[in-house]
Amino acid sequence: MIQMKFQTKFAVLGAAALVITVGTGPVQAAIDIDAAQALFKSNDCTKCHAVDKTKKGPPLTKIAAKFKGKADGQSNVLKQMTEGKKVKLADGTEQDHKVIDTKDQKDMKNLADWILSH
Ligand code: HEC
Repeated sequence: MIQMKFQTKFAVLGAAALVITVGTGPVQAAIDIDAAQALFKSNDCTKCHAVDKTKKGPPLTKIAAKFKGKADGQSNVLKQMTEGKKVKLADGTEQDHKVIDTKDQKDMKNLADWILSH
């Protein structure tokens, strides 16, 4: 009988540990890759940005590396998508950066996180 009680106790402890482990996982929400890619394509970002090749703009891997580990990485990427600041293209010409055509913060943040995941 005593043996059984012990086992039950351990089972309960085990379950509690599992809940704690899951509960303290990364705070960041999982990235919806499909949604990010769709938004990236529909906004013609792909005209100037590829994953690892320089087009008119820097590749995503380079952008991600630039902001890696920086607390303001996401907000910098969001600014780039929304402020339309002047940028220099790879061919030397200048133009205002593309402004993303969504006002949905969740979609924009998802796209920013996807860019930064490269
Ligand atoms: C006409 C070409 C062009 C298009 C279209 C374009 N970009 Fe860019 N983008 C650039 C260039 C050029 C730079 C480099 C700017 C610099 O280094 O100052 C850049 C830089 C960036 C950066 C890095 C900013 C930084 O501080 O290093 C991000 C993020 C970015 N673009 C996201 C996007 C997204 C998202 C889209 C689509 C909504 C997009 N771009 C569409 C040309 C473009």
